[in-house]
Amino acid sequence: MRSRIIGTGRALPERVVTNHDLERTLDTSDAWIRERTGVRERRILAPELATSDLAAEAGRDACRAAGIEPKQIDCIVLGTVTPDVPFPATAAYVQRKLGARAGGAAFDVSAACAGFLYALGVADGFIGRGMFRRVLVIGVEVLSRIVDPMDRSTAVLFGDGAGAVVLAPEEGPRGLFSTHLFADGEYADSLHIPGGGTKAPLSAAALERREQFVRMNGREVYQHAVRNMAAAAQIALQANQLSRADVAWVIPHQANRRIVEAVAERLDIGLERFIVNLDRYGNTSSASLPIALSEAVDSGQVSDGDLLLLVALGGGLAWASALIRW
Ligand SMILES: CC(C)(COP(=O)(O)OP(=O)(O)OC[C@H]1O[C@@H](n2cnc3c(N)ncnc32)[C@H](O)[C@@H]1OP(=O)(O)O)[C@@H](O)C(=O)NCCC(=O)NCCS
Repeated sequence: MRSRIIGTGRALPERVVTNHDLERTLDTSDAWIRERTGVRERRILAPELATSDLAAEAGRDACRAAGIEPKQIDCIVLGTVTPDVPFPATAAYVQRKLGARAGGAAFDVSAACAGFLYALGVADGFIGRGMFRRVLVIGVEVLSRIVDPMDRSTAVLFGDGAGAVVLAPEEGPRGLFSTHLFADGEYADSLHIPGGGTKAPLSAAALERREQFVRMNGREVYQHAVRNMAAAAQIALQANQLSRADVAWVIPHQANRRIVEAVAERLDIGLERFIVNLDRYGNTSSASLPIALSEAVDSGQVSDGDLLLLVALGGGLAWASALIRW
């Protein structure tokens, strides 16, 4: 049994932080950030709110779009690397906040920027096996809480947000054709947080070394992102015996404008067929694809019958692609 997205939703914090705002606290400039990344501004979550608040709002929005009540959801799969607490899963808090069916399943998937596609693949498998009929798939991040505000090489890149979709069984020709998931743990330290886990529990000394924050080898991630996102996209097309000419829209992970351009070039698909919103939100990791999808659906950019190619790469390194007939 194939699955289909029957509703999309999103939630973005109200507070906008522009590049000019960052110029006040960091040795950086609007020109550098725009030229190297394409980001103009990002959203930052209010301090009294947590990841599950954003996720529940996006989930509610997706349920509304799908025409269902949250209590009809029988499974929540949530991609994040910024959970409310180390455990339990943020999905459990979202289930409670949404009033989704108690007794249904709820858990998190940790695959960084590929988290939404990993979660989508897992949810699709559940629907395919008939385990669940209404699965809420969420990508959500509050990256502002894990990025070092003093580190200009990462602080300018990321933002907060949430996107969600409701998946349901589909008998017809539309729906999710495939998901392809990949990882290479050789590069696990290319993008990671060194402290706070069992390997290096947080201590006063570790906090002094700022080990609670993201560390990134930007160049390495950049090269892998271009190569692997393009390769994953090609694998998705080949597996479905489709070609780049069949693709109406590519929805790439919104990491960096230059990465998107390089992927477009490798795939030989015009940039005008790429959905890009990273100028407004920065890199929201696992939230980036469902936010972009939800905006494209609501604006009418995506039409019935369109073939959508989704690709992402992030920490792990983990990367993935999905092909959807809308
Ligand atoms: C991070 C990234 C934008 C840096 O761009 P880059 O062109 O590789 O720049 P470099 O890291 O070589 O740095 C170039 C210079 O700019 C400086 N710089 C870095 N961040 C800066 C900032 N925010 N403002 C101003 N200067 C900055 C560097 O210190 C360096 O200075 P130096 O030449 O004096 O040493 C780029 O590597 C990238 O996008 N990587 C992928 C990151 C990503 O998408 N991660 C998430 C994936 S899910």
